[in-house]
Amino acid sequence: MTRILTSLFILIVFSGCSGKSGTEKSGFVRGDFIIAQHGMVVSAHPQSSAIGVKILQKGGNSVDAAVATAFALAVCYPEAGNIGGGGFMIIRTSNGKSEVIDFREKAPFNATRNMFLKRNGDVSEGESTETLLSSGVPGSVDGLIYAHSKYGILPFRDVIQPAIELAGYGFTLTGDQAQDLNSNRENFIKRNSVRPPFVKDSLWKEGDILIQNALEATLKRIRDFGRDGFYSGKTARLLIKEMKKGTGIISDTDLKEYKSVSRASISTDYKGYKVITVPPPSSGGITLIQLLGMIKPYPFKEWGFHDSKTIHLMVEAERRVFADRSEYLGDPDFVRIPVEQLTNKKYLLQRMSSFNEKKATASFEIKPGSPDGYVSEETTHFSVVDASGNAVAMTTTLNGTFGNSIVVDSAGFLLNNEMDDFSVKPGFPNMFGLVGGEANSIKPGKKMLSSMTPTIVEKNGKLFLVIGSPGGSTIPTSVFQVVVNVIDFGMGIQKAINSGRFHHQWLPDWINYEKNAIDSVTACKLAEMGHELRLRSSIGRVNAIMILPDGEKVGGADKRGNNSAYGY
Ligand code: DON
Repeated sequence: MTRILTSLFILIVFSGCSGKSGTEKSGFVRGDFIIAQHGMVVSAHPQSSAIGVKILQKGGNSVDAAVATAFALAVCYPEAGNIGGGGFMIIRTSNGKSEVIDFREKAPFNATRNMFLKRNGDVSEGESTETLLSSGVPGSVDGLIYAHSKYGILPFRDVIQPAIELAGYGFTLTGDQAQDLNSNRENFIKRNSVRPPFVKDSLWKEGDILIQNALEATLKRIRDFGRDGFYSGKTARLLIKEMKKGTGIISDTDLKEYKSVSRASISTDYKGYKVITVPPPSSGGITLIQLLGMIKPYPFKEWGFHDSKTIHLMVEAERRVFADRSEYLGDPDFVRIPVEQLTNKKYLLQRMSSFNEKKATASFEIKPGSPDGYVSEETTHFSVVDASGNAVAMTTTLNGTFGNSIVVDSAGFLLNNEMDDFSVKPGFPNMFGLVGGEANSIKPGKKMLSSMTPTIVEKNGKLFLVIGSPGGSTIPTSVFQVVVNVIDFGMGIQKAINSGRFHHQWLPDWINYEKNAIDSVTACKLAEMGHELRLRSSIGRVNAIMILPDGEKVGGADKRGNNSAYGY
């Protein structure tokens, strides 16, 4: 009976989607969907997803699989997978408890407020993105080891070993990756004193094998010595030596003192679903909760999916939320963040009181509220669920594609350029066009504000969705739209992800949109309301898992990249 009901559910929810199933994916394939009965991993590269699933099949739980997937991504997805960066992980165990692990990078102790300004006060262009000075103290290795030591059930060496082999034997480049590496070739050559493995004499092509021996050796040190294999000893010495080749300021003390932080998740009720997400120093969770709270009172389901009125409502909410972000959000260990006030139902209603259903509000008219009263897509998100229903949503990044493109010589890993996520000067936009002020100013040991939004959704107290995305400032709006597509518009997860997206972030005052999100008539209606529209090739790359009532897992891998759902 359950099987019949499930089939019916799939048929109803997923009708309207068609297309070819992937050939290289494991798990059952129904139409366009990868369905797994036991466990599933959806990540940015087929080899990292396969590694995660193998760990599950060996008896590992979702945290073992997540840690294995993350280390594998550091090898086979150097665009964003990393050991030289940071991120956020949200874990929900099958008994319904959740924990956020914040392994965001930190400003080195020698960082100063105006470190990216010239004498005349102007921003020194490129310094916060292209140089050794752009790197925050990496958090990924500490975060992964912390997560594994608390939740993992397989030995750490078994979990990291597949990544070591992937580095030593090499991984297969996808077509997109060959292109990414080729277009970044000049940066790799210019910014490194020793040629990194990402550069070879000829250009890369799909199917080439990329071997990373120095990275393999670093991963072995992490396998053998745990966090000391990265934050002290040979790896640390190599990193500091790299810093000294230029203007880098990460010191021995910075590395020794880095500690990831366990934080309580934040959540909201949205139409009977519980949305559980990450707190600051990511802005993503608060942004998502504010957005859902702001649109909730409006009958946009009646207005219709991607109707001009619906898009207008969502965009106007986004405009207001990003204005708040610019003023109030930063590292909670340094600034007081009014989380409860910002997500308070009455505050959100009051914030939307200036919403005009027929007219765009100019961003200059929107100031941050009073709660007391051009880019690449290279962060990476993956989702994991194991057979017992433990779930992990993890988003990690080097910030820019390949970070600052600087590879630590003889240690083989790329450095992040996360310092650009600070507000380097009040009102000066970062690489995602985001502006900020005092709350996100640079201070020694402080974490730069993030937009990463790994999220878990419960339905009737049971695990329902595991979701997240890369995309800088577009991360929370991408997650927001997919959640709304599923909950309000009844879409299956793949259709919800495939649907076109749009994005507004207060400043600059325009709507970015994908071409399948807004048709010509809708575009004209939005323009008549006063919106400026700008086409963008893609917005976000959502990797999600939806859990069906009988426990089957449906993979949602974003076709905007080489994302792959694997299950068993
Ligand atoms: O933490 C953040 O919000 C950014 N450093 C994320 C960067 C990103 O998503 C890059 N592109 N997709």
